[in-house]
Amino acid sequence: MREAKIIVHGGAGTIRPRLWAAYRDGAHVAALIGQQILSQGGSALDAVTEAVINMEDNPVFNCGTGSCLTYDGRVECDSFVMTDDMRIGAAAIVTNVKNPVKLARVVMEHTVHNLIAGEATGRLADAYDIEKIDPHGLVVDRRRRRWQEMMDRGLEYMVDPELESSDDPTDLSDEDGMDTVGACAIDRQGCIAVAGSTGGIMLKYPGRIGDTPMPGAGSYAGSAGAVACTGHGEAIMRVCLAKHCYDLMESGMPVQEATQQSIDFLVQRVNGFAGLIAIDSKGSRAWSTSTPNIPVGIPEGVVDSSSGQSPA
Ligand code: GLY
Repeated sequence: MREAKIIVHGGAGTIRPRLWAAYRDGAHVAALIGQQILSQGGSALDAVTEAVINMEDNPVFNCGTGSCLTYDGRVECDSFVMTDDMRIGAAAIVTNVKNPVKLARVVMEHTVHNLIAGEATGRLADAYDIEKIDPHGLVVDRRRRRWQEMMDRGLEYMVDPELESSDDPTDLSDEDGMDTVGACAIDRQGCIAVAGSTGGIMLKYPGRIGDTPMPGAGSYAGSAGAVACTGHGEAIMRVCLAKHCYDLMESGMPVQEATQQSIDFLVQRVNGFAGLIAIDSKGSRAWSTSTPNIPVGIPEGVVDSSSGQSPA
């Protein structure tokens, strides 16, 4: 029997100091929820799913309730799950489901597909009794105010190539912490899983899908471990960041080195800003980011550093 472990993140970006504690503590609570499942003998898949559900329901994070808004002021969510036996489930452009990660699990466990997008996600939710929500219910005041502020400044990020290649993370981030949440875990049986959920990025073009539901880009899991990315999806997709990190781990590189080398690769190749968390098959965990902040949660204690390695 192995020692079960979990690590979660609450989104890489630039987080205002007054909000840091809410992000940091939210990630810690989500990790505790996942760890409780693992400690009771539950599966890595259940642990990462429940950790992400907790963050989807926490309006601080950019996923589920509290998601960023599209250019036309609506919420469109993406979600993902994967297990080390190569099973995948993902949902994209989800507009009216309270916990999009539950839909990703439905795709994995009840369909022969990997990714379902758009209006059909609502029908899938109905078919499997997944709680729906009025799309306005996912919008929180803080995001609405931020959206209005950006619209007033005339920003059109997702159609402006100059902004996309900017090397200033604050150009493309919601100042309140921009991104995705994710979780990686290994259970007592040695099974490994990853889950992710996101509202994407502020002012994204309607219908835009980011890295989160793309296997190998935003997340990956296999027998060597699991990786969950967060940050600017367009850049993450270009280098298949999660698979890049996974391959380094599979080649035998220690997890801390693999996460840091992956971020260095992202910066060198596409000047991207992103962070990632990873767990290897021995339960070692690490994280790294090219952004000013990444709230990371591990059950052992509150994490206040943006880059590092957890106790073994
Ligand atoms: N990393 C989340 C997104 O770009 O959609």
